[in-house]
Amino acid sequence: MTTYDTLGATYARTRRPDPRIAAQIHAALGDAADVINVGAGTGSYEPPRTVLAVEPSQVMITQRPPGAAPAVRAVAERLPVRDHAADAAMALLTIHHWTDPEAGIRELRRAARRRVLVLTWDQQVFRERFWLVREYLPEAAAFDDTRAVPTDRLLDLLGGGRVETVGIPHDCVDGFGAAYWRRPHAYLDPHVRAGISMLAQPGDDVLAPGLSRLAADLADGSWHARHAGLLTLDTIDVGYRLLVADH
Ligand SMILES: C[S@@+](CC[C@H](N)C(=O)[O-])C[C@H]1O[C@@H](n2cnc3c(N)ncnc32)[C@H](O)[C@@H]1O
Repeated sequence: MTTYDTLGATYARTRRPDPRIAAQIHAALGDAADVINVGAGTGSYEPPRTVLAVEPSQVMITQRPPGAAPAVRAVAERLPVRDHAADAAMALLTIHHWTDPEAGIRELRRAARRRVLVLTWDQQVFRERFWLVREYLPEAAAFDDTRAVPTDRLLDLLGGGRVETVGIPHDCVDGFGAAYWRRPHAYLDPHVRAGISMLAQPGDDVLAPGLSRLAADLADGSWHARHAGLLTLDTIDVGYRLLVADH
């Protein structure tokens, strides 16, 4: 059993690729002729030229759509591929789950002929800018502190690269941590929380006091009064970053 064999049971329900984020990822892949997706989950954001998905959880593999790239059950830290197996290797919203990110990044660089993409988030920015963890669920932020890999560290491991900000649209289709920044009621829905590991892994007991405060603030209008400015925005930057490294 892997973590996502329990955590991922309903993943495909709330975690579908957002088309605007997909466009950014696909642009960053450039003219790569073939792509390996590591920590691939249910296959979100895989371009048609994906030749292999690497994923440790059978529950996640089972939710891949018909016609998706072939998936192998394995971990990033030991990719079952030869050196330079594809033009590009990508790892999207997954490295915080790896037991050894350093080994995993080394493997991504070994597998890719030309380009490595990593979608992650800057935990410091996330903590400061995302109202949910700043004002209601510091326990979720503390959990993320234990596993988030700093962007600078990742860039070092990647041997340098460029960093793109990934703005999160107000109607983001992919229900990850900050996706519902302008739809606060969503965080009160256990189905939504089940698809967000920073909320699912600490557990409802830990988060209950913060969630109750959020429910009360939504009911009496104080959330909306405090966050009126947010309601006028279409996209925000709460720290999600796409790292693009060539070699
Ligand atoms: C939040 S999901 C992201 C899935 C997909 N990349 C996406 O963007 O929807 C994280 C995935 O990383 C996988 N994972 C966990 N540990 C891993 C490891 N050591 N190597 C590769 N993948 C891992 C999980 O099983 C899960 O499918």
